Amino acid sequence: MHAVRALAIQLVAAVITVLILNAGVLQGLSLFALASVQGILAAALAGLMRSERWWLPIHLAFLPALVLARSLQLPGWLWAVGFALLVLIYWSTFRTRVPLFLSNRKTVAVLAQALPAGPLRVLDIGSGTGSFARPFARLRPDSQVFGVEAAPGPAWLAGLLARGRTNLQLARGDFFEIDWSEFDVVYAFLSPVPMGEVWEKAERELRPGAVLVSNSFPVPDVAPEGVLTVDDLRKTRLYCYTIRADRAADTQKQHRVWPWRRKRGSPDPALRA
Ligand SMILES: C[S@@+](CC[C@H](N)C(=O)[O-])C[C@H]1O[C@@H](n2cnc3c(N)ncnc32)[C@H](O)[C@@H]1O
Repeated sequence: MHAVRALAIQLVAAVITVLILNAGVLQGLSLFALASVQGILAAALAGLMRSERWWLPIHLAFLPALVLARSLQLPGWLWAVGFALLVLIYWSTFRTRVPLFLSNRKTVAVLAQALPAGPLRVLDIGSGTGSFARPFARLRPDSQVFGVEAAPGPAWLAGLLARGRTNLQLARGDFFEIDWSEFDVVYAFLSPVPMGEVWEKAERELRPGAVLVSNSFPVPDVAPEGVLTVDDLRKTRLYCYTIRADRAADTQKQHRVWPWRRKRGSPDPALRA
């Protein structure tokens, strides 16, 4: 559906560019400049149609990149390799609508410091290349870190880079298909799309007291217990949700990662979104 919409946007932008050209406005421009005009129009249309933000640079660069690549006269097999790489990296993005982008070091450090000491079992859902799980496991040797990633390319690279780390386990798979009940902390850096479903699963399976931390994307219609703000360029926000006893099914196993009363380093309720 989204791919069809993206294709339609590209086509409409191309038609508008041709119409403007026929009206004599863009006469004399090179093919690359015309492709850039089409890219700008496509990105603007995508913005107007409220496409997800990550579509905008794709729309902007698609045709200019194609024109540029053609002018470089790259061999045909390079296109096939490029396509295969994109498939391996983005795999099911069209279905999940969660592209690959990476947590930065400052974000990992803030969370590693904010979570209370003690052995925690931490799950990174959609672990990508391990850019959260690896530094977190290094900063928190007291904890066991797990990651699960659907796309084969990032999962393979993550496994390679994680070799030798004893408190880190990474696997390939769908995080909706695994049991989260043994984890104290679930970390998500996904997109707005799956957050409702992620929260439903967290409430169903996590123990009371366990925490769901979502980088950048809040759970719709649920107030976070607190929000950590990272001092990075985009002022990353970590939305923290503690599973309450009255929400979770099994009240016997209560074990709070963050106590109700705020302790030093736990997310400040005053910072709520
Ligand atoms: C934005 S990246 C985050 C990577 C890493 N967690 C980090 O913070 O650096 C999200 C990843 O989630 C993966 N993903 C999306 N839906 C998934 C699912 N249902 N099961 C496993 N992985 C999934 C995507 O393939 C993508 O690599």
